[in-house]
Amino acid sequence: MTQRVFSAMQPTSDSLQLGNYLGALLQWVALQEGRDAVYSVVDLHALTVAPDPAVLTRRTRVTAAQFLAAGVDPERSTLFVQSHVPQHAELTWILSTFTGMGEAGRMTQFKDKSSKVGESGTNVGLFIYPVLMAADILLYDTNVVPVGEDQRQHLELSRDLAHRLNTRLGEGTVTVPEPHIVKEVAKIYDLQDPTAKMSKSSSSPNGIIDILDDPKVITKRIKSAVTDADTVIRFDRENKPGVSNLLTIYSAFTGRPVDHIVADFEGKMYGHLKADLADVVVGALAPVRDAAMEWIESPDRLDSVLADGAAKASVIAQATLERIYDRVGLLPPKRR
Ligand code: TYM
Repeated sequence: MTQRVFSAMQPTSDSLQLGNYLGALLQWVALQEGRDAVYSVVDLHALTVAPDPAVLTRRTRVTAAQFLAAGVDPERSTLFVQSHVPQHAELTWILSTFTGMGEAGRMTQFKDKSSKVGESGTNVGLFIYPVLMAADILLYDTNVVPVGEDQRQHLELSRDLAHRLNTRLGEGTVTVPEPHIVKEVAKIYDLQDPTAKMSKSSSSPNGIIDILDDPKVITKRIKSAVTDADTVIRFDRENKPGVSNLLTIYSAFTGRPVDHIVADFEGKMYGHLKADLADVVVGALAPVRDAAMEWIESPDRLDSVLADGAAKASVIAQATLERIYDRVGLLPPKRR
């Protein structure tokens, strides 16, 4: 059987950052080969942070444009917007009745986000966010889920729910998904604080590289990346997190092993590494940026791709939902 791949990103910014790109998007593109891939822009998830409506609409298209620009191929894969396939919200309700309060409350992303805004600022959607994520995955009989390290715990919950459904409702109700987390790029760090992950909600914009950014901005941010006290270029995540992060990014873009890069820079200064890395990153991202702009400037063409994707996704999602509705005992409507 062809393996099914599913993954998704939230439309919560005007550009994906380098962590999204290296940790997830490039894996999505690679996994299209020989597999049946389904990728989504999860706009329902983004509602948990109460975005401005017009901004959410714009970012949904911009996010899809970046998937296409990075190499998600709509001829081979299914690309759609989550809210276009209502089965995601429907399955979330069923799964929420299989999820314990304690289980949901243990999710570290929920704890982090809710502690930042306090109880009065925390909506119930944020609490069941990982249940919606499990619905995304389980609807497509997914075998493999390419994500970065920060999604590991959510994936564990999806797996627990899948096992629980199969135990209570009978084997074969849903497929148990496996995470696909590529160790080397699973966590790209902030350029200003290389012990924290690069994230769109980071405190300083200088720590982030947005893939649609102006080349000059990208170069400046790489050149001003925080490095370490001594001057030796070597990979040491513990003691030299700044340089190690730069080496990881270098290796991910060039496909060359870290040791080879370290050997090339033997006896050279951090400045050399940063200047070369800036050229590598700017060069690699230029075609992605151009292609994304083309898609953004043709919203009709983009919307058609998304409509075709939603039509294909709905067929799979509906079959799974009907199977689950039937097994939990919901009375099927009489067909007329
Ligand atoms: P999101 O939108 O925050 O991030 C998208 C993807 O980028 C990865 N990522 C990183 N990888 C490496 N280093 C980093 N610094 C870094 N920052 C982000 C994330 O791990 C993710 O793979 N909950 C998900 C979206 C989602 C989803 C799903 C994912 C909803 N439903 C179903 C997979 C399957 C999220 O917030 O990702």
